[in-house]
Amino acid sequence: MNATQFAKKILCIGAGYVGGPTMAMIAYKCPQYKVTLVDINPERIAEWNSDRLPIYEPGLDEVVKSVRGKNLFFSTDIDGEIHDADIIFVSVNTPTKMFGVGAGMAADLQYWEKTARQILACSDQPKIIVEKSTLPVKTAQAMERILNSGPDGLHFDVLSNPEFLAEGTAIKDLLEPDRVLVGSRLTESGLAARQEIVDIYQNWVPEEKILVSDVWSSELSKLVSNLFLSQRISTINSISAFCEKTGANVARVAKAVGMDPRIGDKFLKASIGFGGSCFKKDILNLVYMCQTYGLDEIAEYWKSVVGINEYQKERFVTNMLQAMFNTLAGKRVCLFGFAFKANTGDTRESPAIYIARRLLEEQTQLVVTDPKALRNAKIDLADFGEKVEFEKDPYEAAKGCHAIAVMTEWDQYKTLDYQKIFDSMVKPAFIFDGRNILDHEALFEIGFNVYPIGKPALTHLNES
Ligand code: NAD
Ligand code: UGA
Repeated sequence: MNATQFAKKILCIGAGYVGGPTMAMIAYKCPQYKVTLVDINPERIAEWNSDRLPIYEPGLDEVVKSVRGKNLFFSTDIDGEIHDADIIFVSVNTPTKMFGVGAGMAADLQYWEKTARQILACSDQPKIIVEKSTLPVKTAQAMERILNSGPDGLHFDVLSNPEFLAEGTAIKDLLEPDRVLVGSRLTESGLAARQEIVDIYQNWVPEEKILVSDVWSSELSKLVSNLFLSQRISTINSISAFCEKTGANVARVAKAVGMDPRIGDKFLKASIGFGGSCFKKDILNLVYMCQTYGLDEIAEYWKSVVGINEYQKERFVTNMLQAMFNTLAGKRVCLFGFAFKANTGDTRESPAIYIARRLLEEQTQLVVTDPKALRNAKIDLADFGEKVEFEKDPYEAAKGCHAIAVMTEWDQYKTLDYQKIFDSMVKPAFIFDGRNILDHEALFEIGFNVYPIGKPALTHLNES
């Protein structure tokens, strides 16, 4: 097919963790559409066009390579591609604003607004604009006001189609989504535009999983989904602290509680706290909106979800310090994993960053190992220079260490030869399992002093 034969020309502005995989999936499932991604970062585009994609995501390489150059394209010609597109998804980053009014809370919408103005400047025919990024409620209205303010009287429909994929399972989530949500204005042109977006997904998503709504409910549903998920993690993490004081086992509690179908068993794994680029920013975004609407009690309620997350990370460091005789200075500690979760190289807001920094403050000699995230880890800890070592091989990384702290639930950490690791470490040897993925009894038998999350510690130190 040449470009003029494609049924639709779809553009995505922002070729990141969301734009890349979602557009690759649309191209893969819809050979009749031409799908193009653009980005202001030319290096990112060059990587998408290379053998080494800019993000690691299981199954992504295969999908991209099967359609790239056929109906999936990566380009830096943002103006030209905007001009040619029928439908434009916008998937730029919407981080927490770090300056001025709302600093540290509100969403920073500068990237979004720039995109809207660029779309307006480069368009000579009406287009459908789709919010893929996660945005404050009513952003679409601001977008409409900018886009529909042009001198030519062009009309743009602005829709919301939030993305629910999780990193590490993005391809599976896109292939078999729980739901696809499309929100539009309930006007004639809004409803027609909504149908065009629904038509795309109908190529592979069952009809009953495609949900339509008004724009504001769609924008809010995305935020609320992330709020509920993060709230569950803070809830179980709060119980993990209680378990450590009382001798109960948080995994057993989670199992018993989660078997009630009204509660469900997902997102009840106690951990060192949630990370990732979205949970914290989306909670704070809602907290800020609540404050601006005068809903202070609601704002405080959701703020506490972030508060417990911060507490959980600090608690982990305090537990390490107390267990290791109240001093970490000069001791070698190895972090097993640095990614914010398994099966991704992403370290944005990873709890490992906070824990690494706190350990370095305690003058620990830090060694970091991770199968996919070392490149990002080096950037995150660049200001500590030579004080941190990075080593891909976990056996090498643990050699000569006083302690291991598991930060990421990589499968490969479950099956290492821990006897060999123990033999290479300084004694008494400690393991702090921040993900509860290891066989704690077996480690104790080997000789480790084992500190899980939300379970009694197994230690040889009190024996004599
Ligand atoms: P990202 O930082 O990986 O990607 C955003 C990309 O947009 C970057 O490559 C950046 O260079 C580009 N960009 C910024 N301004 C631009 C402009 N004016 N023109 C062209 N390109 C521009 O971010 P992400 O993780 O893909 O997240 C994007 C949005 O999706 C956020 O709103 C996020 O909340 C939401 N989201 C993310 C996930 C996730 O798992 N990461 C899941 C669901 C929703
Ligand atoms: C999350 C949501 O799951 C996605 O639906 C959403 O689209 C996305 O945010 C987003 O909007 O960015 P993601 O952050 O990629 O996806 O990964 P999650 O699986 O949600 O994990 C987030 C964090 O919570 C990780 O640090 C993970 O280790 C932690 N977690 C998760 C726990 O500590 N315990 C759990 O039981 C589950």
